[in-house]
Amino acid sequence: MRPTPEDATRVTCVGAGVIGGGWVAHFLARGYDVTAWDPAPDAEEKLRRLVDAAWPALIRLGLADGAARDRLTVAPTLEDACAQAHFVQESAPEKLELKRDLLARLDAAAPEGVVIASSTSGYPMTEMQTGAENPGRLLVGHPFNPPYLIPLVEVVGGERTEADAVAWASRFYEVAGKSVITMDRELPGFIANRLQEALWREALHMVANGEATVEEIDDSITEGPGLRWAFMGPCLTFALAGGEGGMAHMLDHFGPSLKSPWTRLEAPELDRALYDGMVEGCERAANGRSIADLVAERDQGVIDILRATGRLPGRREERK
Ligand SMILES: NC(=O)c1ccc[n+]([C@@H]2O[C@H](COP(=O)([O-])OP(=O)(O)OC[C@H]3O[C@@H](n4cnc5c(N)ncnc54)[C@H](O)[C@@H]3O)[C@@H](O)[C@H]2O)c1
Repeated sequence: MRPTPEDATRVTCVGAGVIGGGWVAHFLARGYDVTAWDPAPDAEEKLRRLVDAAWPALIRLGLADGAARDRLTVAPTLEDACAQAHFVQESAPEKLELKRDLLARLDAAAPEGVVIASSTSGYPMTEMQTGAENPGRLLVGHPFNPPYLIPLVEVVGGERTEADAVAWASRFYEVAGKSVITMDRELPGFIANRLQEALWREALHMVANGEATVEEIDDSITEGPGLRWAFMGPCLTFALAGGEGGMAHMLDHFGPSLKSPWTRLEAPELDRALYDGMVEGCERAANGRSIADLVAERDQGVIDILRATGRLPGRREERK
């Protein structure tokens, strides 16, 4: 049976790569018992390595009472993993057929009523829930990398998802220390990926045309608007660009320039030259730092920003 969101203590994570492993680290740090399952032969070793690498950051962030890495169990089968679950988070590869079949299997294996969320970056649940016997409990819980540090989860159901399941998941994620946006309709890319995609497309165009380097593009955000976006979104930020007249003045002033051909809404061709340009550009930008170095740097940066803006886990309720 479905416990209340406050009483849920056992989380099952299916698919334990970058995102599934990140979810495992998050739920462990928030004091849950976590069971994972992933079909890859080396999955357990990789998962434990990911959790170990994340743990120092999670200690700095502040662990929940009782949180411990040894509360992670890796199950031998999907059915074992789901048998005692209070909540299931699916983070398997982004392939529609695979997700459809997997969600049907999870639905068959999870206890009655237990909510099952998919981490999908873009598939609507309406298209993924078609094979399941109980589609009402299937929904999207879209995280951001790494789920153990970035608070946002976008929650949205499909056409056959029950409203109760959406409400349960939104509350559950909040109790588990996440910031939740509950969407009332399916939207390609949800909200944040739709915005990120526009920026990403422009970046690829500029690299493809030799207009800017990877380093210049990254600096333009980290030394510029990115600093504001960590605590104030693009709309309120632009309202301040209107001075005392706020958004109305901003729109009167800059509205006409929206029609100028700044953006290139069609995606560029991802040919070999652009591919190599991006990969080599990122290597230059990394300047000798390994992926593990960059992960540690990113984690510390996010923690510093969360701390500086009063958003450490457990402080959110005080802020409201
Ligand atoms: N990487 C990101 O930044 C990001 C962000 C948000 C959401 N997502 C979404 O999260 C999901 C996982 O992405 P990822 O980046 O972690 O990929 P990944 O390749 O790192 O991990 C996928 C894992 O799923 C496992 N897997 C393969 N077949 C499976 C099956 N049938 N059942 C269960 N597990 C299986 C793989 O062994 C692997 O460990 C995708 O839906 C993706 O769109 C990714």
